[in-house]
Amino acid sequence: MFIFDKGSLTGVDIGSYAIKAIKIKGAGASKTLSRVAYSRLDHIAIPEESSKLSEILKNVFNANRIKAKKVITVFSGGSLTIAHLFLPRMPKRDMKDAVRWEMRKHVAFPAEELVCDYTTIGEVKRGEDFANSILAFGVRKRDIEKLIKIFEDALLEPSSIDVTPIAMLAAFNHNNVWEKGVSYSMIDIGNSKSTVAIFKDKKLMFTREIAIGGKELTMIVMENLACTEEVAEKEKIRCGVLQGSEKDTLITTAIFGALERLAAEVNRSFDYYQAQFREESVSKIFLCGGTAKLKGIEDMFTHSLGVPCFVDDPLRNIKIEPKKFEPSRIKEFAPDMTVAVGLAL
Ligand SMILES: Nc1ncnc2c1ncn2[C@@H]1O[C@H](COP(=O)(O)OP(=O)(O)OP(=O)(O)O)[C@@H](O)[C@H]1O
Ligand SMILES: [Mg+2]
Repeated sequence: MFIFDKGSLTGVDIGSYAIKAIKIKGAGASKTLSRVAYSRLDHIAIPEESSKLSEILKNVFNANRIKAKKVITVFSGGSLTIAHLFLPRMPKRDMKDAVRWEMRKHVAFPAEELVCDYTTIGEVKRGEDFANSILAFGVRKRDIEKLIKIFEDALLEPSSIDVTPIAMLAAFNHNNVWEKGVSYSMIDIGNSKSTVAIFKDKKLMFTREIAIGGKELTMIVMENLACTEEVAEKEKIRCGVLQGSEKDTLITTAIFGALERLAAEVNRSFDYYQAQFREESVSKIFLCGGTAKLKGIEDMFTHSLGVPCFVDDPLRNIKIEPKKFEPSRIKEFAPDMTVAVGLAL
């Protein structure tokens, strides 16, 4: 058991609402949940209160007896810039420099502070020639350094930093069967934002961040009920977008309006994807992130987008020992954990 465990990293997803950490042991079909942690952050301002975050991180690891020091995490929001590039055919070793050169034009900070990476989608015909179709990610170096410092101050070692859609792809890959040539979408609806990803043939084909998440839904309920944020969040979770009593209509209508705006943005992304890649439409959508648990969201998105939507369970193919964890409690938090699970995988 110990040997299996040796190489595994703890996936840590620090969101604006909660920290999620997960450790998975074993290989292939025998992957088993080893450790899991979820901790709400209660309005910590990053980066001003980064030291508080390190303290919470340390406590989360101690309280959940996660002894591993090596972690893998994500960088999202902030200075993250995503660009879809078409570059001429060239040797792989030159690609990194070419991507860097192109990304300089896309970022709003000095080029010498750019840290970037990319994933190749494939070759496409552009006019007479073939081009490499690439998804590139750029962040500001000092933002990465701040993230690393949060972990180091918690006595943890980030071995790797990834981006949300790549973690989502890893979770999707472990839990679903791919049909050749079929496009799937996964949408992480978090607190401050949502991340749309489209996958095909085990590759990330498209991704985009949309600045609408659960926090906006809470704020809309708060305005409509003229109540505190705490009460608004409870009411949001209680009502969702399900038709309820007349009193609830005010809440569900307000939430519905904001979600329609999100669905419209997702639709625009799908249209772009279809036009750009001359692809078939997306065949299924999986929702994850805390807001994926909103009552009625699956049906609402299915109707709005005309594509079947499902709430993701990233632990579907991971064994949960009932002696160690209470499965129903773990399942309750499953959609929130997708990014952390993907990292751990
Ligand atoms: N049962 C529920 N129904 C509806 N919304 C919920 C439910 N549980 C949590 N949420 C909402 O989910 C959001 C938190 O989701 P999540 O943990 O994915 O965010 P995060 O990853 O911390 O944030 P981000 O990635 O946007 O910075 C909050 O807005 C919260 O109100
Ligand atoms: Mg998140």
